[in-house]
Amino acid sequence: VHLQVLGMGQEWEGGVMAEGLGGGQKINLLREELKHHNHNPNLVVLFSDSYDVVFTGGAEELLQKYQKLKARVVFGAETSCWPDPSLTDLYPRVSYGYRFLNSGGFMGDAATLYDLVSLNGPVPPASDDQLYYSKIFVDQKLREKFGIKLDSQCKIFQNLNHNSADVSLKFKSGDTRLVNTVFQTRPVVIHGNGPSKVLLTSLSNYLAKSWTMDEGCLSCAEGKKDIFNIDDSELPVVMVAVFVETGTPFLEEALQKIARLDYPKTRMHLFLHSQVPKHGALLSNWTKAATKAGYLSVTHVTHDDKLKEWHARARAVTECLAVACDALFSVDGDVHLDNPDTLKLLLHHNRPILGAIMTRLGRAWSTFWGAVTHDGFYARSTDYMEIVNGNRRGIWAVPYISGVYLIQKSVLEDEELRPNYIHNLFDADIAMATNYRAKDVLMYAVNLEHYGHLVDNALYPVDKLHPDLWHVAMNREDWEARYLHPDYYKALNLSTLNELPCPDVYWFPVFSERFCTDLIETMEDYGEWSGGKNTDERISGGYENVPTVDIHMTQIGFQQEALWILKEYIKPLAEKVYLGYTSDARADLIFVVRYRPTEQSFLRPHHDSSTYTINVGLNRPGIDYEGGGARFIRYNCSVVDTRMGWALMHPGRLTHYHEGLQTTKGTRYILVAFIDN
Ligand SMILES: *[C@@H]1O[C@H](CO)[C@@H](O)[C@H](O)[C@H]1NC(C)=O
Ligand SMILES: *[C@@H]1O[C@H](CO)[C@@H](O)[C@H](O)[C@H]1NC(C)=O
Ligand SMILES: *[C@@H]1O[C@H](CO)[C@@H](O)[C@H](O)[C@H]1NC(C)=O
Repeated sequence: VHLQVLGMGQEWEGGVMAEGLGGGQKINLLREELKHHNHNPNLVVLFSDSYDVVFTGGAEELLQKYQKLKARVVFGAETSCWPDPSLTDLYPRVSYGYRFLNSGGFMGDAATLYDLVSLNGPVPPASDDQLYYSKIFVDQKLREKFGIKLDSQCKIFQNLNHNSADVSLKFKSGDTRLVNTVFQTRPVVIHGNGPSKVLLTSLSNYLAKSWTMDEGCLSCAEGKKDIFNIDDSELPVVMVAVFVETGTPFLEEALQKIARLDYPKTRMHLFLHSQVPKHGALLSNWTKAATKAGYLSVTHVTHDDKLKEWHARARAVTECLAVACDALFSVDGDVHLDNPDTLKLLLHHNRPILGAIMTRLGRAWSTFWGAVTHDGFYARSTDYMEIVNGNRRGIWAVPYISGVYLIQKSVLEDEELRPNYIHNLFDADIAMATNYRAKDVLMYAVNLEHYGHLVDNALYPVDKLHPDLWHVAMNREDWEARYLHPDYYKALNLSTLNELPCPDVYWFPVFSERFCTDLIETMEDYGEWSGGKNTDERISGGYENVPTVDIHMTQIGFQQEALWILKEYIKPLAEKVYLGYTSDARADLIFVVRYRPTEQSFLRPHHDSSTYTINVGLNRPGIDYEGGGARFIRYNCSVVDTRMGWALMHPGRLTHYHEGLQTTKGTRYILVAFIDN
């Protein structure tokens, strides 16, 4: 087998193929080459386009299939008559197969091919090669003279344009092949003609022994760079560019994870852009800390600079080049780099443009797309879920990446290749991907390791003092990490709960100290404490038998979230200790009470109108206040020294007649819910 690349390094004069006609230069190139071979009677030549073609088999298979087709020249076939539809009726009818000629790939003996390309002498380079061959084919005399057939059933050539539904991948041990399921053939030369390049890219992740079922990603080993065993001083200099373009929950933790990346600060520049005033204080604190932490440089473009996202992203590229960075590591605010090795891993995999695949936890939303619609938006590829779920691991060429990616210097330095974030009015990431696809530049996304997760930043209530409290259902794991007591699950798992301060009164760690302070601050910020009077317009009937100075969750718009918390975190505890009881986790009244010596300082004995009640201490006895506690009168049993974030749980209506003990100093806050009232 002899491989000859034609035209490499020569100037292309064949027109802009993506915009219409062209390619005549290919005919001339082929003729020049065949001049040296046309007297060799045993030579079979396969001509193929190159940049949008993948070979899935070798010479032997090609020759066998060629011989079986019993033609001197075999062209690939397609389903549309291009570029001159007026030739349609001149084409022979095909009962079962693609009818029209595609000139991206053909096979024939050297002498015949030479005659074929020499028919009219040199052709104008910008004339159309497919039109040239089509005109010969539709002329019956010429067709017979040259012995031309079309490979209508894709035994050798599969042209993908318009035919995506005809093909699928067949995973066999040792190799992955493309199958044309209509004709039951296994084509060898796979051509992403016209706009089918995205599909070709997706298929080529598997074809030609790139990825097999039993061995996984074989192409992933290519081109790796040693990053883990080299001296800090030899590590690439990376510009870490952080973009906070919208109100983002759990940003504090996301930033901490960036700061904790296992990479020497002396090899990193930091660039931060934010358009969100809400995050202003957090971000300037963070950049201040970063400045002390020893990064090579720290640049913070704040919302006051009024720089739009598109331009900020371009600015990061410019700054990266200005400091002679080796790579740009772009990280959006909703990205949590749980794996501190992420940056090193991306450098190690060493692709020009490489995204790290991560998802919103438990959801299919991720940092890449497997396919795009014809107008450039999200479409789901057949392998999307397999990749997202980690059932297939590899480095995937994909049509869109976002959120977290590394771009190497070689790309940034090339004006043609550096990311361009502007395309119509598209979002910056969609624009970047669209522009890359238009230039046939490959973007990769990797899921060989775990890198982290995304938070869901939809419906983020920036107008709240501590909006993250509201994201209990939307970002459950992150919420738990910040707001749930670190011992909650341990306590839930214990076979017997050992904290039983009074009969049938249980005591659990439920909330973190951060939850307690954020909730108190939220209530004080809201400030509309009730007067502790019997008349109360907030409740139905307007009369409160045992009034306290309090604020209801409904007043701060937290009732739904509080109910969710009861259902997810309190109900399981209640059902565990009150055996055989199934809780609805229903509550009309969930509220924070404030006790002060100068205000209301105690609560007289009463029954709660609940099946059971929880009462959570929100601040620290002996430090924030003195006194306080609950006394269960029937048992003459008091719980004092309540613990921050711990919930007391006791039966409501009948047995647990109780009172709130006097707070003698400071301010005491408790969170109360009357459950299953
Ligand atoms: C920023 O730092 C100041 C001073 O340390 C601190 O008081 C403030 O709470 C911080 N703000 C945020 C949002 O982290
Ligand atoms: C609690 O128990 C479950 C199942 O028995 C287990 O998967 C989980 O790891 C435990 N959690 C803790 C914090 O012990
Ligand atoms: C209730 O308990 C307190 C302290 O434990 C004790 O001094 C008091 O005598 C008890 N009262 C009754 C009625 O048992």
